[in-house]
Formats: sequence, structure tokens, C-alpha cells
Amino acid sequence: MKSILFVCLGNICRSPLAEAVARREFAHAGLALTVASAGLGGWHSGAGADARAVACAAAHGYDLAAHRARQVTAMDFVGFDAVLAMDRSNLRELARRCPPAHSEKLALFLPFAGTAPPEEVPDPYYGDDEDFRQVIALVRRGVFGLIERCRDAA
Ligand code: 4NP
Repeated sequence: MKSILFVCLGNICRSPLAEAVARREFAHAGLALTVASAGLGGWHSGAGADARAVACAAAHGYDLAAHRARQVTAMDFVGFDAVLAMDRSNLRELARRCPPAHSEKLALFLPFAGTAPPEEVPDPYYGDDEDFRQVIALVRRGVFGLIERCRDAA
């Protein structure tokens, strides 16, 4: 596995956080993996990350300032080795859009990372700061799980 695409609904909260945490922690762990993120919806395409996600990331030392939202494209299923969904609804929609030849690349992020339950990173968009803190805690747990998984596979 050389590249991972993190996917959520809007690409302004969860998947940009996963991308930023993964980019930094993979580099820190000496893993040369390409990471990116995208959203199933295009409502926020071109926009920066949600201000609450930016603040939450910054509080944990991650920088989301350069993030620009984009929508999942057909080429993503070709170009990435793993396409990881934040929740089951995201995974169902990815499965609907993905060509059958690439469907084995799709997975739910946290179970793929081998972490303990819960299996989903809940949508924080209509939530509060506590929901964003929960998102970053789950995302960090998942990213460290991915690092373990890559080490075990090496
Ligand atoms: P995300 O959060 O999927 O974690 O980026 C959301 C962002 C925007 C919307 C929903 C969820 N929205 O409905 O615009």
C-alpha cells in the first residue's frame, strides 16, 4: 500500500483531519505513503476546511490552513491503493460509485486500521467542539492503527 485517500461527506471536517494527521504521523514514523482526502458531495469544493476543524487541528499541532475541499472523482478509484470511508454511509456511497475492478480498495477507516470500536468517525458538522475533539481522537487512533498495520506488513 503506497497511497491512501480518506473520504467523508463534505471534505471540510473529518477527511481533511485524517489527511493532516496521517501526513504528519506517517512522516514521523518514517512511512513514505501518499495521503489525500476528498468528499462525496461537492458543496464545499474549493473551500477551506471548517473553522472548527482548523481550530481543533491546531490545538493538536496539525495544520489545516492549506486544505481545499474537493469531490471524489472516478480517477481516485484508479490512482489510490486504499480509499477509506469515515462512516458506513460514506462507504455505501463509495461502493455505488466505484468500478467493480477497484472495489477491493474500499474500506471503513477504523476497522481497516484495526482499532477497537467504534467503527465510524461520526459526522461533526451539526455538532459542537466536543464532537470535533471526538473526531480528532478517533482519527489519531485510526492513523496510529494504520502505522501498526504498515509495520506488520513490512
Ligand atoms: P465532513 O462533514 O463530511 O466531515 O466534511 C460535513 C461537512 C459538510 C456537510 C456535511 C458533513 N454538509 O452537509 O455540508
